[in-house]
Amino acid sequence: MQMEENISLKPYNSFGIDARARYWGRFRSLNELEELVAVSEQPLLILGGGSNLLFTKDFPGTVLRNEITGIRLVDEDADHYYIEAAAGENWHRFVLDCLAKGYAGLENLSLIPGSVGASPIQNIGAYGVELKDVFHSLQAWHLAEKKLYTFNLTDCGFGYRESVFKQEYRDQFVILAVTYRLLKNPVYHTGYGAIEQELEKMQVTDLSAKIISDAVIRIRSSKLPDPSVTGNAGSFFKNPVITESLFEEIKKSNPGIQGYATANGQIKIAAGWLIEQCGWKGYRKGDAGCYDKQALVLVNYGKASGKEIFSLSEEIIESVAARFTIRLEREVNIW
Ligand code: EPU
Repeated sequence: MQMEENISLKPYNSFGIDARARYWGRFRSLNELEELVAVSEQPLLILGGGSNLLFTKDFPGTVLRNEITGIRLVDEDADHYYIEAAAGENWHRFVLDCLAKGYAGLENLSLIPGSVGASPIQNIGAYGVELKDVFHSLQAWHLAEKKLYTFNLTDCGFGYRESVFKQEYRDQFVILAVTYRLLKNPVYHTGYGAIEQELEKMQVTDLSAKIISDAVIRIRSSKLPDPSVTGNAGSFFKNPVITESLFEEIKKSNPGIQGYATANGQIKIAAGWLIEQCGWKGYRKGDAGCYDKQALVLVNYGKASGKEIFSLSEEIIESVAARFTIRLEREVNIW
């Protein structure tokens, strides 16, 4: 374990942006993290899978990569298994490991890029399930106080792609391990249209967590670019939540608009649809582009810089705002 200098971050971010870190190190335990933090130059960035960020310039301080691994059953009761996974575990490998052991609940979240430690930060979600639905608690280390804290469900302040770790505690904690509350008797979430259609195509008769996972993998592979082939960070923007009156207003001239009622009576609309209506789907300028099968995803076809991807995202935000009076928010963290 040692610090390296002037390292390319290209292998460590799923966008494949060739920014450089002034200092770079990896840690495989809390002890190693403490040792590295003690000699780190600020600013400090803790990296997991690097699948939800965009570097728009070289990083002037220290980047530390969380590589702590380990998965264990820590407790069980009549209905649940409590599984603790270290933050450096790859998310999808963890999902597959749970499915193989018969722990249900993560199947809809299959094939999401990134690490276990990143999963609570933005409350990852897909196909009708969010991390908060399976979350029990997490352990995090406070960088300034050098102290361990346990966060339970309410402490995390989960919302749509949100948590306290993106807001008031941003950059203050390093998540070390997450405990998930998984099911002994699975409850399947197949209501999301794309899953229903895929299960039909697969001619499924006996539902299982593994089959749902297979269906999700098929959907994601058909719509979302594989970051090991084409650089991307999944959805670049959040789906905006608007008032019902604005929704009705837009619907008058755009009858095709997609919207889903949220718990508080507002309407969540598909940002991919808004972007597509503005003509961006499949657009490419240099190596920066808007993915041709899912307009919510921005891609790096090879040598795009973070600045080029960022400026494409600016153009998209402006054009959606001009046409629909809705300002898209980025979901990806910008550095
Ligand atoms: N749509 C379009 N054009 C597009 C893309 C989408 O019209 O180019 C419309 C489609 O008609 C579709 C609707 O938008 O009915 C929803 O599309 P999709 O099911 O692909 O989901 P999404 O709302 O675009 C969200 C998440 C994804 C998650 C999927 C499935 C966000 C920001 N994104 O995308 O999460 O996989 O739902 O649950 O909430 C991610 O966060 O990185 C991510 C990929």
